[in-house]
Amino acid sequence: MHFPAARPVPLRPADLAKRKQAGLPISVLTAWDALSGAVVAEAGADAVLVGDSLAMVVLGHATTLPVTLDEMLHHTRAVGRGVVAVCGPEQQPLLITDLPFLSYQCSPDEAVAAAGRVLKETPAAAVKLEGAEPETLTVIDRLVRSGIPVMGHIGLTPQSVHRLGYRRQGTDPASQERLCRQALALADAGCFALVLEHVPDGLAERLRGALSLPLIGIGAGHSCDGQVRVTADLLGLTPQQPPFSPPLLQGRQLAVQALRRWIAEQRHPTTPAAGAAPHCSAPDPLDR
Ligand code: KIV
Repeated sequence: MHFPAARPVPLRPADLAKRKQAGLPISVLTAWDALSGAVVAEAGADAVLVGDSLAMVVLGHATTLPVTLDEMLHHTRAVGRGVVAVCGPEQQPLLITDLPFLSYQCSPDEAVAAAGRVLKETPAAAVKLEGAEPETLTVIDRLVRSGIPVMGHIGLTPQSVHRLGYRRQGTDPASQERLCRQALALADAGCFALVLEHVPDGLAERLRGALSLPLIGIGAGHSCDGQVRVTADLLGLTPQQPPFSPPLLQGRQLAVQALRRWIAEQRHPTTPAAGAAPHCSAPDPLDR
């Protein structure tokens, strides 16, 4: 079993602010099942986000809107098993789950019920939700006062794709002012951290100093306190990656090539060289 970089206890939401104060960068990676959870935990992510991007990444939906709360709970439990298998119960990264579309927008009561299920039925210790409209701020205030840590998310907010598209946000002074006001309001409402997605670099620079909560960027430049990425994008597994999240390797291409080679070998087996080990040394139970 491999234990990533020494971390004395499971990371808690408040620890992210301590990392910011200490000037330590924060790395957040998404995961969607036990396998991806184990991989990002073994890589040493500070926090693992079960993002609703899994709707597109692994469930094949065109947007994040269709994923349900029950599906998010199912995937979070799987990620939790993968993380604990690698880190043990002692050194786990912070596990955060996205509240899916319409699980928190209808009323603060429904939001508490949805977020409460995340904390009761999965190993996640926090939820993330999108936006900073007055109704959303009311919801966040209620969640936080109910003991549920909340990560905010502004800028490009995929649950608003039909209103805002996947465009870069904050491209003019007025919308930058609005994003700044929203960030401050989310901090006031009690968010423990804030995701800032696909905005000009200068905005993050301006916000980072003004906020005591950690600013976690994706497509927001290098001035944030931490970065979050969709792991499947970084690994080059998604059909195409957003411009602000270039792949670290061509994972999909590498996997297809390796599998094609394996299939070709099955169709046209070559005689193993004398003394070479066969591909599978286990006896075939049907081979009598
Ligand atoms: O759902 C997700 O993966 C996210 C990240 C892009 C921050 O919200």
